[in-house]
Amino acid sequence: MPKWLDHAVFYEIYPQTFLDTNADGIGDFQGIINKLDYIKDLGCNAIWLNPCFVSPFSDAGYDVADYYHTAPRYGTNEDLKRLFQEAHSRGLHVLLDLVPGHTSVEHPWFKASMRPERNEYSDRYIWTDSAWEWTENMPCLRGISQRDGSCAVNFFSTQPALNYGYYERTRSWQQSPEDEGPRATLEEMKNVMRFWLGLGCDGFRVDMAGSLVKNDPEGKGTMALWRKVRAFLDEEFPEAAIISEWGEPDKSLPGGFHMDFLLHFGPSHYNDLFRCEEPFFSDRGQGDASAFVEKYLETCEKAGGDGLICLPSGNHDMDRLAKYVEGEQLKLAFTFLLTMPGAPFVYYGDEIGMRQVEGLTSVEGGYSRTGARTPMQWDGGVNAGFSAAPASELYIPLDPAPDRPTVQDQQGKADSLYSYVKGLLALRREHPALQNRSGIRFVGDGAPGVPLAYERECEGERLLVVVNPRSQTASFPWNGALGEAVFCLGAPAVQAAGAVTAAPASAGIYRIS
Ligand code: GLC
Ligand code: CA
Repeated sequence: MPKWLDHAVFYEIYPQTFLDTNADGIGDFQGIINKLDYIKDLGCNAIWLNPCFVSPFSDAGYDVADYYHTAPRYGTNEDLKRLFQEAHSRGLHVLLDLVPGHTSVEHPWFKASMRPERNEYSDRYIWTDSAWEWTENMPCLRGISQRDGSCAVNFFSTQPALNYGYYERTRSWQQSPEDEGPRATLEEMKNVMRFWLGLGCDGFRVDMAGSLVKNDPEGKGTMALWRKVRAFLDEEFPEAAIISEWGEPDKSLPGGFHMDFLLHFGPSHYNDLFRCEEPFFSDRGQGDASAFVEKYLETCEKAGGDGLICLPSGNHDMDRLAKYVEGEQLKLAFTFLLTMPGAPFVYYGDEIGMRQVEGLTSVEGGYSRTGARTPMQWDGGVNAGFSAAPASELYIPLDPAPDRPTVQDQQGKADSLYSYVKGLLALRREHPALQNRSGIRFVGDGAPGVPLAYERECEGERLLVVVNPRSQTASFPWNGALGEAVFCLGAPAVQAAGAVTAAPASAGIYRIS
């Protein structure tokens, strides 16, 4: 387990829309380098960079056409290497995005694989053995070449599925994960990892990590596969970290990942908190966090081990946090996100409450996700400081709202969301009990009338976190001794007759014994 994960706090960067330094309307590596100090100053010490490899961009780069070269629009491999070095010189780690489940239809492997005569890449993708036979339970590409077969699709139709085999096999064309083709695919993905780790990256966020082995209802085949990858990393790159886009830590963590996300899909009830009609983080008080807490505890129990369960503020696939969670409620949501175990992940712009921009035309396969990928709002200058290109040439238009939040504006204000997030991250650094691996015990589950409340503990330090987003008081039975508040938003909680009562719209962190 890489030691740096004990204190890692991540910042997710969507490279297209972070900062453009050559006025072509699209973000670039140099833009990220220019903002490393900003990221560090905010209190993050690690970065997850969305895919930045050669691609026709039918899915914003999640359709890779060359795993070994960066897309020229961001810069060269050398520029990315420089980004790693500049990050390291500031004590920041950088994860790249690995897309192992599929490539672009433009990838040379796929082109070779489409050929009717057998070649090195015939088994790199999942093909049936007749153009009249479809892949079961999966969409497929048909009639696209003279190869007599249909090819499985992993996501969009431009993303054919790489072949890691089938766990349960019912057709002759379904290969075992141990067959030569699937093994060669995995070896090549390990080479890709070796290549970038060798250049200085610190690990990977792994796209659709749970999808690799097909017909694998309990994930056993896919877990076995990732355990092999973990063994390879432990041996060759013990400081490299991998985090899965899986959403089921009880599978991904025993499957070898160091970290997994709770996400807008999967069984975690993450959406109950932030993204539904009545989220828990709302003053309307109609939301309920108890299903989330129950599932969280069950998952921790089942996952066991020392892996981290990570709660992102958002990502490039979800609606912006600020779409459903409004105003001061964002501070309460961040109080929760930044005091939970696991490594926090801040999606760029969430620290200033960037909004979901509605009504945009899809860009590079973003569809409804496009509105969560708009340019970072740095200041009040041209294009909010994102780019010097004409506004019509920006990769995605800016949030047109006259009162759109900016970093510059919020940095100057002590009561801004930016200052709040920065303050909480500093607090997290100061208190061992609030960090990634420290224990948690829920004492209030966010059911109607109850706040979210949990004890955190490490090396003799014990803290109680209480968050009540509702406009009514909320309480929970508790018999400990409530000490000094190390942090407070709104009125502090009060203890009486074996219960703690939290004020409306309040958050507090208290010493306890
Ligand atoms: C993941 C990515 C998403 C992409 C999809 C296919 O969910 O986060 O952006 O479209 O995988 O690669
Ligand atoms: Ca640029």
